[in-house]
Amino acid sequence: MSILIKNGRIITAADDYIADIFIENETISAIGRNLQVKAVRVIEANGKLLFPGGIDPHVHLDMPFMGTFSSDNYETGTRAALFGGTTMVIDFVIQTKGKSLYSALNEWKSRSDGNAFGDYSFHLAVTDFNENTKAEIKPMIEKEGITSFKTFMAYRGSLMIDDRQMVGLMNEVKKYGGIVTTHATNGDMIDYLVAKNRSEGNLSPLFHYLSQPEITESEATGRFADMAFHTSVTPYVVHLSCEGALNQIREATKRNQKIFVETCIQYLLLDASLYEKGFESAKWVMSPPLREKKDQAALWAGIEQGLVHVVATDHCPFNWEQKKAGLSDFAKIPNGAPGIENRIELLFSEGVLKNKMSLNKFVEVTSTNSAKIFGVYPAKGTIAVGSDADIVIFDPNEKHTISAKTHHINCDYSGYEGLEVTGKCKTVLLRGRVAIDGDKVLIEKGYGKLIKRGKTSN
Ligand code: URP
Ligand code: ZN
Ligand code: ZN
Repeated sequence: MSILIKNGRIITAADDYIADIFIENETISAIGRNLQVKAVRVIEANGKLLFPGGIDPHVHLDMPFMGTFSSDNYETGTRAALFGGTTMVIDFVIQTKGKSLYSALNEWKSRSDGNAFGDYSFHLAVTDFNENTKAEIKPMIEKEGITSFKTFMAYRGSLMIDDRQMVGLMNEVKKYGGIVTTHATNGDMIDYLVAKNRSEGNLSPLFHYLSQPEITESEATGRFADMAFHTSVTPYVVHLSCEGALNQIREATKRNQKIFVETCIQYLLLDASLYEKGFESAKWVMSPPLREKKDQAALWAGIEQGLVHVVATDHCPFNWEQKKAGLSDFAKIPNGAPGIENRIELLFSEGVLKNKMSLNKFVEVTSTNSAKIFGVYPAKGTIAVGSDADIVIFDPNEKHTISAKTHHINCDYSGYEGLEVTGKCKTVLLRGRVAIDGDKVLIEKGYGKLIKRGKTSN
C-alpha cells in the first residue's frame, strides 16, 4: 500500500512548511516538494494543515469504577478518538488490592485485545505496593514495555496508596528507568469534607466541587514533587487543574527539578460556574473538579511557560443513567466526563485561533511531548521519514458545532454541547492506512495495536 499526500502544510513541534509526504506500508518514506513517485492513492491537501496523529495519554476505556464501567470501550473509544485526530491513547490498567500487577494487565487485555480501532498502550496503576508488586516492576518495564506507573493520592480504600508505598514504588521504578505519575489530590482531606457535607445534608453536585478545594490539590502536588525529588525518579502529574498546584511545580523548578505536567482540555475551557445547574452539573462531576477562571489563566500561561507539557482529556464517560446513581448524593456520582474526540479541535479553535498558543506548541502538547515522555518518539509524535504514518489532515476553516447528537463517543451528552468550533479533522491516517475519511471509518476493529513503550526521551 502506498499513499501520496500532496501540498499539505506540515506542522511539527519544530517546523512549519509545505511539502508532499510519501507513505509506504506503515511508515513515511519520503517528504519533499513535488515528489515524483507512484502511489496507489493520492490525497490533495492544498490549504490543509498536516499534524502528527494526536496522542492522548490519559483515558479510561471500559474501566470498572464506582460500581459501574466507563461507557466507551476500546472499540467505541478509540474510534471516537480517531474522528478527533487522536491516533494513540494511553489507558490505565488498575491493580486490584491484594492481587498482582500481571493479573490486572491480563484483565485489561481481555477487554482490549482485538477490539481497538486506534493504537493504544497502558500505564500501570499500582494500588498495593508490596514485595510481590515490587518484583513485577522490572518485567513490566523490560518485557511488557509498560514504562509508566500511575499512583492515586486519593480514593482511599480502592485506589489510594500511602506515602511509604509511594516512595518504595518510586525507588523501584527509578532503578529501571521508568516514570511515576500521580493523581495529586489529598484524599483524606477530601474524604473529610465529603463526609462533613453529607452529614450536613449538602448533597447536590455543587458539593463535589466544594469538597475538593484548591489546597487539596496543591498540597498533594507539592508532596509528590518532594518525594520524587528525594528519590530522583522522573515524575509526571496527571490532570493538573489549578494555579496553586502549578505554583508547586514552579517552586520545584527552583531546585532544578524536572516535573512533567499534564492538564486536560476541560480545565482550560470550562469553569466551576457549571456546578450551579442543579443535578445537571453531574455531567461535570470529575476529579479534580472544574476550577475558577484565574486557574484557567494560570494553565494557559503554564503552557506558554513550558511548565505544562501535555493537554490530555482524562476521558472517562458515563451515560446519564449512570450519573443518576448520585441523584440524591453527590458522592455516588461516577467521576468522569467525555472528551476524547474533542481535544484537538477544541484546542485548535480556543487555543491557536485565539492566539493563546502557536501551531508548533499545539503539536507539542497534543502529540510530541506525550510521545517523548512516554517513550514512543520518534515512531510517533512527529511527521518525519521513518516515523509511523499517523497523520491528521486538518481543515483550519471548517466550522462545526459539538453535540452528543453527532459525536462518536458512547455517551448521551457532551460537556461542550452547542459550542461552535473552527477547524475539523477531515482525514486521519493510522500507520499508513486511511482510518477516517470525512464521516467514514475505513479501517476495521482490531487494526489498533497495543504499543510497547521505551523510556522517556526528553
Ligand atoms: O473524575 C475522574 N477524573 N475520573 C477518572 C479517574 C481519575 O481520577 O482520573
Ligand atoms: Zn485522576
Ligand atoms: Zn483519570
